[in-house]
Amino acid sequence: MRTPFIVGNWKMHGTRAEAVALAGAVRKAAEGAPEVEVGVAPPFPFIEAVSGICAGGRVKVGGQDCHSEAKGAFTGSTAGPMLRDLGCAFVIVGHSERRHGLGESDECVGKKLRAALASGLIPIACVGELLEERERGATEHVVRRQLQAAFEGLNADLAGRCVVAYEPVWAIGTGRTATPAQAQEVHSDIRRFLGRLLGDPVASTVRIQYGGSVKADNIDALMTQPDIDGALVGGASLDAAAFTRIVQFQRS
Ligand code: PGA
Repeated sequence: MRTPFIVGNWKMHGTRAEAVALAGAVRKAAEGAPEVEVGVAPPFPFIEAVSGICAGGRVKVGGQDCHSEAKGAFTGSTAGPMLRDLGCAFVIVGHSERRHGLGESDECVGKKLRAALASGLIPIACVGELLEERERGATEHVVRRQLQAAFEGLNADLAGRCVVAYEPVWAIGTGRTATPAQAQEVHSDIRRFLGRLLGDPVASTVRIQYGGSVKADNIDALMTQPDIDGALVGGASLDAAAFTRIVQFQRS
């Protein structure tokens, strides 16, 4: 009942020409997976070119981040309405590379999520624990704290438009994927907690993506888990063949 949503997060990679070529390949891949929603988040300077390639097709284009304000004196930042203007449908907020690399707080991520919704973008809210937090048994606590800051007080209609990405920080870019069972355990806790915050009807419709070293050879097993509704893919999304196989996953 939840349409799978697979998104490629291109991070800070590539040239304009490479982005255009990759977008063309993803457009084709999405045509071969009519039951999957597909998205790409290119670097900001390439969004317009990628939007052009994806126009009229099945691939949604998104930003990798947005500011919490709609406009203002914020040098170097990009606002939600600007992303909409370029044809974006979604935006990633709270990616661990911003939480841990750039010091974004839970509160800051919550503001960005609200700003994204106010501009008509679908927020993909990233949550996930550090290795040290997992090792001391704090995974559930950390993820619930991040979810609470992001979702508390949102009405059901707005919350229902959001996507959550569970990305254990120790699995991002490391080649160390959470096992399907480890991911499912956290995904089902996320859904239970969202049910408490927002009510079960909303929690049962919110899509929860897994992210962290998703590859062509582990996507099938991840997608067989009942609460894994898609993937946020970094490294493997830069390889057209690998990302095509991920988009065209097989639930065995
Ligand atoms: P990765 O990145 O697939 O390269 O681990 C995932 C992400 O950061 O969204």
